Amino acid sequence: MIKTIGVVTPGGDAPGMNTAIRAVVRTAIFHGLKVMGIERGYAGLIGGDISPMDLKSVSGIVNRGGTVLHTVRCSEFRKRSFRRIAARQLKDHGIDALVVIGGNGSLGGAHDLHKEFGVTSMVVPASIDNDIPFTDSTIGFDTAVNTALDAIDKIRDTAASHERIFIVEVMGRDNGFIALEVGLGAGAEIIMVPEEKCDFDRVCKRLRNGLDRGKHSSIIVVAEGVCRGHNLAEYIAKKLKVDVRVTVLGHIQRGGSPSAESRALACKLGSAAVELLLKGEKNKLVGMQNGKIVATDYAKANKAKKTIDRSVLELAEKLSI
Ligand code: F6P
Repeated sequence: MIKTIGVVTPGGDAPGMNTAIRAVVRTAIFHGLKVMGIERGYAGLIGGDISPMDLKSVSGIVNRGGTVLHTVRCSEFRKRSFRRIAARQLKDHGIDALVVIGGNGSLGGAHDLHKEFGVTSMVVPASIDNDIPFTDSTIGFDTAVNTALDAIDKIRDTAASHERIFIVEVMGRDNGFIALEVGLGAGAEIIMVPEEKCDFDRVCKRLRNGLDRGKHSSIIVVAEGVCRGHNLAEYIAKKLKVDVRVTVLGHIQRGGSPSAESRALACKLGSAAVELLLKGEKNKLVGMQNGKIVATDYAKANKAKKTIDRSVLELAEKLSI
């Protein structure tokens, strides 16, 4: 029987995490549960950085980016000995179940805590990267894409005025979900994702064709996991004898007020995680597929890999000839 739940936001922050925290806390209190907030992700769990939350602790945060619970990247959590301490802390604070709001690493951590120490939890997928399977989208992805699109729209104005080639580096160390969505929406001439072979000469060839057809400005969207934008810029400038500029969007993609889509997703998934726990479900990733809440076992979720839709790359190329 669950009487007290804990809520934690480990790993990289994402816009909509606060909205999800609010949904978890308010749904839990609605059902008469006690809620404990764990500060600074898994590091705070290890360190016992845990305190009670009430209705007021989540007022005025539905629209705020970041996470009021704070977060740190916690490499110690990869070690079983530290996970043991974390499990002990949950017991000592009387926490019967944990709601983890985070990305891939957070999911792996929750799974380990369950396998090794029997900790009951639910994971709410929140990451700008959108690289979590069994959910169409993650909390924060839509906001990050809109932030990047807004920036590129502005860059296009100056690119067109100066007739320059611009390289825009977006986040995505291991995958190209952001680059793909942003590149398509921004009408980028070239999109480079880590899932595809990195071929500078192919990029130059496409740009050359564009120049020959009278195209004087182009936007290249490159995911950070492919290459450094500056290295590509140097190569293009040397080979094509053109002016190239680079913008690294970086962490602005992680900040800002969550979009309508990120907020709605956060409200629905955060609340569903608590409702499912109360129905006796546990150790599942709570996602949204085709408008329906779908809970997937950690083992299955951790084994699967979400892949980009390569046809979108082809579509983007076709539309930007
Ligand atoms: O996991 C989200 C993410 O934003 C990645 O896209 C990016 O590579 C990474 O976090 C950056 O992490 P940090 O904020 O620790 O530099």
